[in-house]
Amino acid sequence: MSREALVEIRERNALGIRHYEALEALHVPWDELVGGSRVEGELGRLARSGGRVAVVGPSGTGKSSVLAAVLGQLAPGVPDHLVPVRIPMSVVERDVIDSGDFARHIVRQVIDWAAPDMPSRREREALEARIADLSRRSRRPRRPGFALNVPLSLVSPRLGTLTAGLARDIQAASGEWETRVLAGEPWRALADLVEVVRGRGLEPFFVLDDTDVWLRSVYAGEAEAIVRGFVANVRTMITELDCGLALQVHTEYLEYPAMAETARRLTLLELPRLPDPPAGLARILGRRLEVAGVPGGVADAFAPEALEALGDVYGAAGDLRLVLAVADEAVGEALQDEGAALVGPPALRAAQAKRTHLLG
Ligand SMILES: Nc1ncnc2c1ncn2[C@@H]1O[C@H](COP(=O)(O)OP(=O)(O)O)[C@@H](O)[C@H]1O
Ligand SMILES: [Mg+2]
Repeated sequence: MSREALVEIRERNALGIRHYEALEALHVPWDELVGGSRVEGELGRLARSGGRVAVVGPSGTGKSSVLAAVLGQLAPGVPDHLVPVRIPMSVVERDVIDSGDFARHIVRQVIDWAAPDMPSRREREALEARIADLSRRSRRPRRPGFALNVPLSLVSPRLGTLTAGLARDIQAASGEWETRVLAGEPWRALADLVEVVRGRGLEPFFVLDDTDVWLRSVYAGEAEAIVRGFVANVRTMITELDCGLALQVHTEYLEYPAMAETARRLTLLELPRLPDPPAGLARILGRRLEVAGVPGGVADAFAPEALEALGDVYGAAGDLRLVLAVADEAVGEALQDEGAALVGPPALRAAQAKRTHLLG
């Protein structure tokens, strides 16, 4: 049974990197992992009340995952009128630290989000199929309503009249938005766009996603100037737009004075640490196997000592992305050892050595 589980994990890419929309299906709520309702519960409450939120944690600790889980299409408890709009930041150029460019980026994202032909029919069918598949595998029903990362044209038919009306309102003036953002009033244009959404009885909630990836990796050498420009824009956004928003803040950026100052205007939601790493990681890995349809459970693939060792990998920085990568690599290593029925400490050590070698 066991070797079979390892083969299945590899073949189904159960532990590998997934599409953005898979994040929420794979998410194990922190509120279950640590108890209480300080993470998903709190984020949901803040989103519903139009809060300004910073989800804080080092890279790989689950900031994107938690936002997707709370505001995505499988998330229970999102009211019908709430419109989470994802503004991906990983795609933008350095220039976006200019205040006008920042607002323009958001306006364009909203217009694209509302465009009837975005995504294309083929992309749309593929996306629909992936979502339906995830909903089935994760046994979480798809919620009919607005959700993070769902283009307006894909919001359920139940809201057809409303979404068509909103798309028309936004598109009707789309030439005008472009002119206005270029004519030097991007923030006013964005504020008016918010009012257009409200005109339909809806409330937008902006999620600036992957800000940490953008700030961290792309222009690392200019980090301080970029962080300063970025947080100045977030401050402007708070003053100019009277609506809720969430962003991800990499913990180390809180050390920058500009970020610390802006953070005072935000509700900080710090991601917790797993209280019992081997047990918590077993649940997170188990969820992955379950959603991928791998028969058996974590115990059929990972020896307890391997989970302990993964707990140590986690312990260093709480980096779940790293833990998953090492676990995946270790499955590959175990498969190369014909005598191994489970991922044990040797496979895990080999996987870690490989990673250290790659990074070194
Ligand atoms: N609570 C969780 N349950 C299950 N998987 C998680 C959880 N949090 C994070 N992950 C996984 O860890 C990886 C990194 O998470 P991500 O949200 O991208 O981190 P960040 O945005 O903080 O860099 C992803 O593969 C994600 O699926
Ligand atoms: Mg992220």
